[in-house]
Amino acid sequence: MQAIVFGASGGLGAELVARLSERPEIRRVHAISRSGPAATGKVTPHAVDITVESDLARLSDTLKYEDDIRLVIIATGILSDGNALQPEKSYRQQSLQAFERVFRVNTFGPALVARFFLPLMPRSGRAVFTALSARVGSIGDNRLGGWHAYRASKAALNMLLRNYAIEQARLNSDFIVAGLHPGTVDTLLSKPFQGNLPDGQLFTPPNAVSHLLRVIYGLTPADTGKCFDWAGKEIPA
Ligand SMILES: NC(=O)c1ccc[n+]([C@@H]2O[C@H](COP(=O)([O-])OP(=O)(O)OC[C@H]3O[C@@H](n4cnc5c(N)ncnc54)[C@H](OP(=O)(O)O)[C@@H]3O)[C@@H](O)[C@H]2O)c1
Repeated sequence: MQAIVFGASGGLGAELVARLSERPEIRRVHAISRSGPAATGKVTPHAVDITVESDLARLSDTLKYEDDIRLVIIATGILSDGNALQPEKSYRQQSLQAFERVFRVNTFGPALVARFFLPLMPRSGRAVFTALSARVGSIGDNRLGGWHAYRASKAALNMLLRNYAIEQARLNSDFIVAGLHPGTVDTLLSKPFQGNLPDGQLFTPPNAVSHLLRVIYGLTPADTGKCFDWAGKEIPA
């Protein structure tokens, strides 16, 4: 089968590409990022901005005759930029600019990926379309507040994933759409926010990807539309 990983230059995405390309059942990994990482062995890189519709349309046109694309993982995401974009502690810090930026990458980009790539996936047999979400996107689990744009963008992403699960189940009863929370992982995204973490709660990317692949390979059609953490435990909506 073939896999597509969006966010292939990221801490989690790069590790996902490397590990998937080692698996015998996977004959090709399409690695998507804005910079387009180097081609190696089974990895074919593509330079695409997931917030640019024409980029995604061009890529889906390139891949439309490929068969057996049974795994799509969206590992793109934004939380802060080390500059003006910072997770809000209060509603007083909200800005339209921050909302637009965060939602573009975390919600609208994955929605466009679904638009252009779900149609390329098989109509029969097991296939998985998944996006890295975050536990903070759970409304039921929210006890701390704050991080308004990021939380809301992931909650909206989870809603869209549920919608796609319902739509895909009508076409293929073995299709799985799921959101995944990787835990807190030592990447550029989490770096500024690792300070208060209790010992042992920060995963390395290799560790986190081992967890994520175990969850992904263990998903069944009964799991479609839901969100799971790194241990495979369902996260409430
Ligand atoms: N790390 C954690 O602790 C943690 C916890 C919970 C959830 N997550 C989620 O896991 C996912 C991956 O996070 P990470 O920690 O691996 O972050 P990361 O190292 O910062 O990687 C983020 C990736 O997103 C890509 N990206 C951003 N904007 C893009 C755009 N417009 N078009 C295409 N690619 C774009 C970046 O690629 P470019 O090279 O193109 O910039 C990069 O590959 C995110 O969805 C994040 O919310 C992470």
